[in-house]
Amino acid sequence: MTQDELKQAVARAAFEYVESLLENDTVIGVGTGSTANLFIAELGKIQHRIYATVASSEESARRLKEFNIPVLDLNSAGTLRVYVDGADEANEHLQLIKGGGAALTREKIIAAASEEFVCIADESKLVPILGNFPLPVEVIPMARSYAAREIVKLGGDPVYREGCITDNGNNILDIYNLEILDPRKLETQLNQITGVVCNGLFAERGADRLLLGTSAGVKTYLPLV
Ligand code: 5RP
Repeated sequence: MTQDELKQAVARAAFEYVESLLENDTVIGVGTGSTANLFIAELGKIQHRIYATVASSEESARRLKEFNIPVLDLNSAGTLRVYVDGADEANEHLQLIKGGGAALTREKIIAAASEEFVCIADESKLVPILGNFPLPVEVIPMARSYAAREIVKLGGDPVYREGCITDNGNNILDIYNLEILDPRKLETQLNQITGVVCNGLFAERGADRLLLGTSAGVKTYLPLV
Protein backbone atom coordinates (compact mmCIF):
# COMPACT_ATOMS: atom_id res chain seq x y z
CA MET A 1 0.00 0.00 0.00
CA THR A 2 1.14 3.56 -0.63
CA GLN A 3 1.53 6.07 2.18
CA ASP A 4 -1.59 7.87 0.92
CA GLU A 5 -3.57 4.62 1.08
CA LEU A 6 -2.39 4.03 4.64
CA LYS A 7 -3.44 7.56 5.60
CA GLN A 8 -6.82 7.01 4.00
CA ALA A 9 -7.28 3.77 5.96
CA VAL A 10 -6.54 5.43 9.32
CA ALA A 11 -8.76 8.39 8.48
CA ARG A 12 -11.58 5.95 7.82
CA ALA A 13 -10.87 4.03 11.03
CA ALA A 14 -10.90 7.28 13.03
CA PHE A 15 -14.16 8.28 11.40
CA GLU A 16 -15.76 4.95 12.40
CA TYR A 17 -14.49 5.37 15.95
CA VAL A 18 -15.77 8.95 16.21
CA GLU A 19 -19.11 7.98 14.66
CA SER A 20 -19.58 5.43 17.45
CA LEU A 21 -19.21 8.26 20.02
CA LEU A 22 -21.59 10.73 18.39
CA GLU A 23 -24.44 12.12 20.47
CA ASN A 24 -26.69 15.10 19.75
CA ASP A 25 -24.25 17.65 21.15
CA THR A 26 -20.85 16.04 20.53
CA VAL A 27 -18.15 18.55 19.60
CA ILE A 28 -15.23 17.04 17.66
CA GLY A 29 -11.73 18.51 17.64
CA VAL A 30 -10.21 18.35 14.17
CA GLY A 31 -6.50 18.61 13.44
CA THR A 32 -4.32 19.80 10.60
CA GLY A 33 -2.37 18.13 7.82
CA SER A 34 -2.84 15.63 5.02
CA THR A 35 -4.12 12.81 7.28
CA ALA A 36 -6.51 15.15 9.10
CA ASN A 37 -7.74 16.38 5.71
CA LEU A 38 -8.76 12.82 4.82
CA PHE A 39 -10.59 12.59 8.15
CA ILE A 40 -12.39 15.85 7.34
CA ALA A 41 -13.51 14.37 4.02
CA GLU A 42 -14.92 11.36 5.90
CA LEU A 43 -16.80 13.67 8.27
CA GLY A 44 -18.21 15.45 5.24
CA LYS A 45 -20.13 12.27 4.35
CA ILE A 46 -22.22 12.58 7.54
CA GLN A 47 -22.17 16.38 7.73
CA HIS A 48 -25.88 16.49 8.69
CA ARG A 49 -25.16 14.43 11.85
CA ILE A 50 -22.33 16.57 13.17
CA TYR A 51 -23.32 19.05 15.85
CA ALA A 52 -20.05 21.03 15.75
CA THR A 53 -16.28 20.91 15.44
CA VAL A 54 -13.32 22.98 16.63
CA ALA A 55 -10.43 23.24 14.16
CA SER A 56 -6.71 23.44 14.96
CA SER A 57 -5.99 25.78 12.03
CA GLU A 58 -7.61 28.30 9.72
CA GLU A 59 -6.98 25.86 6.87
CA SER A 60 -8.86 22.99 8.56
CA ALA A 61 -11.69 25.37 9.51
CA ARG A 62 -11.98 26.38 5.86
CA ARG A 63 -12.11 22.74 4.74
CA LEU A 64 -14.75 21.86 7.34
CA LYS A 65 -16.89 24.79 6.27
CA GLU A 66 -16.61 23.64 2.63
CA PHE A 67 -18.44 20.50 3.78
CA ASN A 68 -21.02 22.66 5.62
CA ILE A 69 -19.77 21.31 8.95
CA PRO A 70 -20.23 23.85 11.77
CA VAL A 71 -16.97 25.18 13.27
CA LEU A 72 -16.96 26.72 16.75
CA ASP A 73 -14.42 28.90 18.52
CA LEU A 74 -12.97 26.77 21.32
CA ASN A 75 -14.13 29.39 23.85
CA SER A 76 -17.74 28.56 22.98
CA ALA A 77 -17.28 24.81 22.96
CA GLY A 78 -16.36 23.68 26.48
CA THR A 79 -14.61 20.31 26.83
CA LEU A 80 -14.40 18.39 23.56
CA ARG A 81 -15.40 14.71 23.57
CA VAL A 82 -12.65 13.72 21.13
CA TYR A 83 -9.83 15.26 19.10
CA VAL A 84 -8.48 13.60 15.94
CA ASP A 85 -5.16 14.67 14.46
CA GLY A 86 -2.04 13.39 12.73
CA ALA A 87 1.57 13.44 13.91
CA ASP A 88 5.07 13.72 12.50
CA GLU A 89 6.45 11.08 14.87
CA ALA A 90 5.01 8.86 17.61
CA ASN A 91 6.65 6.50 20.09
CA GLU A 92 5.14 3.50 21.83
CA HIS A 93 4.17 5.67 24.83
CA LEU A 94 2.04 7.71 22.38
CA GLN A 95 4.26 10.73 22.92
CA LEU A 96 4.40 12.73 19.71
CA ILE A 97 6.22 15.29 17.64
CA LYS A 98 3.73 17.56 15.90
CA GLY A 99 3.83 20.88 14.11
CA GLY A 100 5.12 19.98 10.67
CA GLY A 101 2.17 22.02 9.43
CA ALA A 102 2.93 24.87 11.88
CA ALA A 103 -0.33 24.39 13.78
CA LEU A 104 1.26 23.02 16.98
CA THR A 105 0.03 25.66 19.42
CA ARG A 106 -3.65 25.37 18.52
CA GLU A 107 -3.21 21.58 18.31
CA LYS A 108 -1.81 21.45 21.84
CA ILE A 109 -4.59 23.67 23.15
CA ILE A 110 -7.27 21.47 21.60
CA ALA A 111 -5.57 18.30 22.87
CA ALA A 112 -5.55 19.79 26.38
CA ALA A 113 -9.24 20.69 26.10
CA SER A 114 -10.29 17.22 24.89
CA GLU A 115 -11.36 14.17 26.84
CA GLU A 116 -9.65 11.89 24.31
CA PHE A 117 -6.94 12.50 21.73
CA VAL A 118 -6.95 10.03 18.83
CA CYS A 119 -3.77 10.24 16.76
CA ILE A 120 -3.90 8.98 13.16
CA ALA A 121 -0.76 8.18 11.22
CA ASP A 122 0.82 5.85 8.71
CA GLU A 123 3.39 3.33 9.94
CA SER A 124 6.38 5.47 8.92
CA LYS A 125 5.58 7.76 11.87
CA LEU A 126 6.16 5.17 14.62
CA VAL A 127 9.75 5.47 15.91
CA PRO A 128 11.69 4.05 18.87
CA ILE A 129 13.14 7.46 19.84
CA LEU A 130 11.64 10.83 18.94
CA GLY A 131 13.80 13.46 17.26
CA ASN A 132 14.67 12.37 13.77
CA PHE A 133 11.89 14.69 12.57
CA PRO A 134 13.01 18.27 13.34
CA LEU A 135 11.09 19.47 16.39
CA PRO A 136 8.99 22.59 15.65
CA VAL A 137 8.95 25.43 18.18
CA GLU A 138 6.64 28.44 17.80
CA VAL A 139 8.29 31.68 18.91
CA ILE A 140 7.28 35.32 19.20
CA PRO A 141 9.03 36.99 16.21
CA MET A 142 11.20 39.39 18.27
CA ALA A 143 12.45 36.46 20.41
CA ARG A 144 13.49 34.29 17.47
CA SER A 145 17.27 34.77 17.72
CA TYR A 146 17.34 34.72 21.52
CA ALA A 147 15.26 31.53 21.63
CA ALA A 148 17.51 29.93 19.01
CA ARG A 149 20.60 30.62 21.17
CA GLU A 150 18.89 29.07 24.20
CA ILE A 151 17.92 26.01 22.14
CA VAL A 152 21.57 25.55 21.10
CA LYS A 153 22.44 25.37 24.84
CA LEU A 154 20.01 22.43 25.10
CA GLY A 155 21.94 20.59 22.37
CA GLY A 156 19.74 21.23 19.33
CA ASP A 157 20.34 22.91 16.00
CA PRO A 158 17.46 25.37 15.41
CA VAL A 159 16.63 26.45 11.85
CA TYR A 160 14.28 29.32 11.11
CA ARG A 161 11.39 28.14 8.91
CA GLU A 162 11.63 30.83 6.24
CA GLY A 163 8.37 32.40 5.10
CA CYS A 164 6.22 30.59 7.66
CA ILE A 165 3.86 32.74 9.74
CA THR A 166 1.62 30.75 12.05
CA ASP A 167 -2.12 31.38 12.45
CA ASN A 168 -1.11 33.21 15.64
CA GLY A 169 1.26 35.56 13.77
CA ASN A 170 4.45 33.93 15.06
CA ASN A 171 7.58 32.23 13.64
CA ILE A 172 8.71 28.60 13.69
CA LEU A 173 12.15 27.25 14.59
CA ASP A 174 12.73 23.61 13.61
CA ILE A 175 15.23 21.87 15.89
CA TYR A 176 17.47 19.36 14.13
CA ASN A 177 19.79 16.69 15.53
CA LEU A 178 17.92 15.86 18.71
CA GLU A 179 17.77 12.40 20.22
CA ILE A 180 14.90 12.91 22.65
CA LEU A 181 15.46 10.40 25.44
CA ASP A 182 13.27 12.26 27.96
CA PRO A 183 10.42 13.93 26.02
CA ARG A 184 8.64 15.34 29.09
CA LYS A 185 11.83 17.01 30.34
CA LEU A 186 12.63 18.59 26.98
CA GLU A 187 9.03 19.74 26.55
CA THR A 188 9.28 21.57 29.88
CA GLN A 189 12.76 22.99 29.17
CA LEU A 190 11.63 24.44 25.86
CA ASN A 191 8.50 25.93 27.41
CA GLN A 192 10.68 27.73 29.94
CA ILE A 193 12.56 29.74 27.26
CA THR A 194 11.17 33.25 27.26
CA GLY A 195 9.54 34.01 23.93
CA VAL A 196 8.67 30.39 23.18
CA VAL A 197 4.92 30.11 22.71
CA CYS A 198 4.76 26.34 22.38
CA ASN A 199 6.80 23.37 21.23
CA GLY A 200 5.78 20.37 19.17
CA LEU A 201 6.50 17.72 21.81
CA PHE A 202 3.25 16.20 22.98
CA ALA A 203 4.61 14.25 25.93
CA GLU A 204 2.89 15.64 29.03
CA ARG A 205 -0.36 15.23 27.15
CA GLY A 206 0.27 12.63 24.49
CA ALA A 207 -2.33 10.71 22.53
CA ASP A 208 -4.80 8.40 24.25
CA ARG A 209 -5.14 6.17 21.20
CA LEU A 210 -2.96 5.79 18.12
CA LEU A 211 -4.48 4.41 14.93
CA LEU A 212 -1.56 3.35 12.80
CA GLY A 213 -1.99 2.48 9.13
CA THR A 214 0.14 -0.55 8.27
CA SER A 215 0.28 -2.83 5.26
CA ALA A 216 -1.33 -5.49 7.51
CA GLY A 217 -4.26 -3.18 8.37
CA VAL A 218 -5.00 -0.44 10.89
CA LYS A 219 -3.48 -1.21 14.29
CA THR A 220 -4.70 0.40 17.51
CA TYR A 221 -2.12 1.36 20.12
CA LEU A 222 -2.98 2.41 23.66
CA PRO A 223 -0.36 3.97 25.97
CA LEU A 224 1.95 1.51 27.73
CA VAL A 225 1.34 1.57 31.48
C1 5RP B 1 0.42 19.91 11.71
C2 5RP B 1 0.70 18.58 12.29
C3 5RP B 1 0.34 17.38 11.50
O1 5RP B 1 -0.50 16.58 12.26
C4 5RP B 1 1.59 16.63 11.15
O2 5RP B 1 2.47 17.49 10.46
C5 5RP B 1 1.29 15.40 10.28
O3 5RP B 1 0.88 15.80 9.02
P1 5RP B 1 0.49 14.77 7.89
O4 5RP B 1 -0.80 14.12 8.30
O5 5RP B 1 0.37 15.62 6.65
O6 5RP B 1 1.60 13.75 7.77
O7 5RP B 1 1.21 18.44 13.38
O8 5RP B 1 0.93 20.95 12.49
